[in-house]
Amino acid sequence: MLWVRCVRGLEPLVAAELEMGGMGSLTEVRHRTLLVATDELEPGLMGLRTVDDLSVLVVDLPDVGRHRSGLAELAHAVEGDRATAAEASRRALTTATAPPADTVGIDVAASFLGKRNFSRFDVEDAVGSSLSRSLGVRYWSRRGDQRPPDGTQGWRVHLDGERLLIGLRLSGAPMHRRAYKTSTVPGTLHPPVAAAMALLAGLRPGAVLYDPVCGAGTIVLEAAALEAELLASGSDITAAAVDAARSNAARSTSATSWLRADAGQLPLAGASVARMVANVPWGRQAAPSGALGSDPASFCREAGRVMDEGGRLVALSEPSEDFDDGLRRAGLVLCLSVELSLSGAHPRITVASRNGEAIDADALGGTVLHRLAQG
Ligand SMILES: C[S@@+](CC[C@H](N)C(=O)[O-])C[C@H]1O[C@@H](n2cnc3c(N)ncnc32)[C@H](O)[C@@H]1O
Repeated sequence: MLWVRCVRGLEPLVAAELEMGGMGSLTEVRHRTLLVATDELEPGLMGLRTVDDLSVLVVDLPDVGRHRSGLAELAHAVEGDRATAAEASRRALTTATAPPADTVGIDVAASFLGKRNFSRFDVEDAVGSSLSRSLGVRYWSRRGDQRPPDGTQGWRVHLDGERLLIGLRLSGAPMHRRAYKTSTVPGTLHPPVAAAMALLAGLRPGAVLYDPVCGAGTIVLEAAALEAELLASGSDITAAAVDAARSNAARSTSATSWLRADAGQLPLAGASVARMVANVPWGRQAAPSGALGSDPASFCREAGRVMDEGGRLVALSEPSEDFDDGLRRAGLVLCLSVELSLSGAHPRITVASRNGEAIDADALGGTVLHRLAQG
C-alpha cells in the first residue's frame, strides 16, 4: 500500500492526477492523505507533481490517543517483524529511490491532529529509537533544532485522531522540493499547489499561459513542466521577482519568458491569453503594489481584457466577495472553488472562464468535480 501526503484541500486533485496517470488503485482519501493499492512502483508515481510525499505504508493501526502512555504503543508498533516487513516491501518496489538505512541511518518526521500530552519530537524519538533497534542502524533525532544529515532513510508518522499511519518515504528528499527552485520571493508558492493550479487550467500544446504576478515563477515553471509545448510566461512588478523567476527558469528544462510589468496595466493585447494562472498578492506575505495597491479590481479587469474567448483563469487568493464580484464584472463566470489549508491560512483556488465553459469539459476537471462531490 502506498501512502500519499498532500496539502489540505488538494486531495481531489491528487486523486485526479493519480487516476489520469492510471497509477495504482485509490482505496481511501483522508485528511491530507490518500492510500493507494499497488504491487509495484509505477514509473509515473515518482513524477507526481501535486503530492508532498510518497511512502510505503508499513503500519496502519488505531490512533494511540492523547496520553503519554501512547508513546510506548508507538514504539511497539514498529518493533521486530514490522520494521523488517517495511524493508522487504521497499525492496519489492524495485525502482524505489529511498536511501538504504545502513549507510547514514534513519530520520523520522511526525505530525498529529488534535491536542496531545506529548510533542512531535516525543513521537519521532519513540518511533526512531524503536526502528533503530529493530534495523540495527543509527537514528538521527530532530529534537532541539537538530537536522539529520543528507542521505538518511526517511520515515513518516501521522496520528489523525482515528488512525496511526507509519510509512517509509520512497524519495530521498520530500517530493514537494524542486531542484529548479533555488531563488524565492516572500510569499512564494508551494510547488504542488502551483502544479494543481496548472492542472486545473487545462493545459494544451501551443496554448498561451500567463502569470501576471509571477514572483519566483513557480506556477509558470510547474505548468511548463506538465506541458512541454505550452507558451508559458510571467511578469511581476519587482525586478527582484523577475530575476528570481529567470534564475529558476535557467535551472529548469522548459522554455519560458519573463518581463517586468504591473498586473493592473499589462503590456498584452486583448484576447491574447488562453490560460491565466496566478497567486494574487493579498498582503499576508506579499502586498499588492502599483495599480493593484490603489485599485485591486484592476487585476480582474486586466484578466477579463487579455483572456481570449475560451480563456480560463485559475487564481489563488484570500476568499473575498470583492474579488468574486470583480471577476463577474470583468465578464468571467465562476466555475469552481477549492479551499486549501496552507501555512496557517485558508486561501481559495477559484476557476473562472470567459464564456462559462464548464470545468468538466476536460478530463481533469470532470474527475476533480466528481471527487469534490464525493466530499
Ligand atoms: C504571492 S507573490 C507570488 C508568488 C509566486 N506565485 C511564486 O511562487 O513565487 C505575489 C507577487 O505579486 C507581486 N506584485 C504585487 N503587486 C503587483 C502588481 N501590481 N503587478 C505585478 N506584480 C505585483 C509581488 O511582487 C509578488 O512577487
